[in-house]
Amino acid sequence: MSTLTASARVRSLVSRIVVREDKLESRLSGSLELVEKRLVECAGRASDPYVADVVGYLVAAGGKRLRPLLTLLAAEFGDAGALGVIDAAVVSELTHVASLYHDDVMDQARIRHGVPSVNARWGNSVAVMAGNWLLAMSAQLSAGLVHSAMPLHAQTSERLVRGQLLELLGPTADDGPLPHYFSVISHKTAALLSLSLRLGALQSGASADVCDALAEYGEQLGVAFQISDDLLDITSSSALTGKEHGKDLSVGVVGLPVLLALTGEDAGDEELRALLSSPTGLAGEDHRRALDLLRESAAMGQARAIRDERLAMARSALRGLPAGPPLRALDALCDVVATRTK
Ligand code: FPP
Ligand code: MG
Repeated sequence: MSTLTASARVRSLVSRIVVREDKLESRLSGSLELVEKRLVECAGRASDPYVADVVGYLVAAGGKRLRPLLTLLAAEFGDAGALGVIDAAVVSELTHVASLYHDDVMDQARIRHGVPSVNARWGNSVAVMAGNWLLAMSAQLSAGLVHSAMPLHAQTSERLVRGQLLELLGPTADDGPLPHYFSVISHKTAALLSLSLRLGALQSGASADVCDALAEYGEQLGVAFQISDDLLDITSSSALTGKEHGKDLSVGVVGLPVLLALTGEDAGDEELRALLSSPTGLAGEDHRRALDLLRESAAMGQARAIRDERLAMARSALRGLPAGPPLRALDALCDVVATRTK
């Protein structure tokens, strides 16, 4: 588990995007503390202590709290202190945590946020049910927000599920591997980042144009974020990410670098193709070798270039928004995604 306390961990992300001692820094830090308290309180609403333990487990284990931060930043474009803004941020994070409970079952992940995954500790069935509980709790909270929050939350939940299903089913004859990949990540990842911003903007009473611009920024940032996640699966370490290194390859999930290497002309790409032709994923020496080949492949640079194009699109979505610290923070967040190591 991360050695940082929840509030220190959250502040570390804020400090990367906001100038120190700016009023925005103290507002965000204060609000994120309230989000932490509300998350714990929501998990504690489970009537049975055993259920409360399971649903509170990953909330307590950590995470960057990127989604609530996006909600709070978006609310800065309206009345950031408006009633329900904290709950909107909690809806974003609870939905994310719910999806992780399910995702770790699907990926047979053993570690999440540096601790044994829920499925490793309690088994698949408990993990799926606890994920359902968290999703239901986030839906309940969304019902107390602005009128459009609940349908938007339901539509986004559907997109998350659709993204995971599309990933499972793989590309069809109608969509090639690359369009299929972008469709998957737009639904499974970008949809929730976009919702997180839209909910904050809506709840704060921001104008429709502002809501749309922030939601579009979230869509592009989300695609870039997932590409960076795919890259980190290959380049980073468990110690940094709190997840198993090279997990995508070991369970046969095809991230962008792998997809590009599969059609690449690089010296190692041929060998990589042979290794990846295993339908069950890779293990042992083959897994290590495939990771080495990928790290040396031109596909890594190509994937980074595509990520950066999406970040440029995210930045351009911000163009019409009023200048100031919140806008600069959203712009700086693009740099964080481009340089993230965990
Ligand atoms: C992580 O992807 C997973 C997601 C971005 C979405 C997961 C969505 C579902 C399981 C659908 C069900 C949704 C809800 C709300 C219950 P990844 O496996 O690429 O990233 P990782 O490396 O963090 O595991
Ligand atoms: Mg996963």
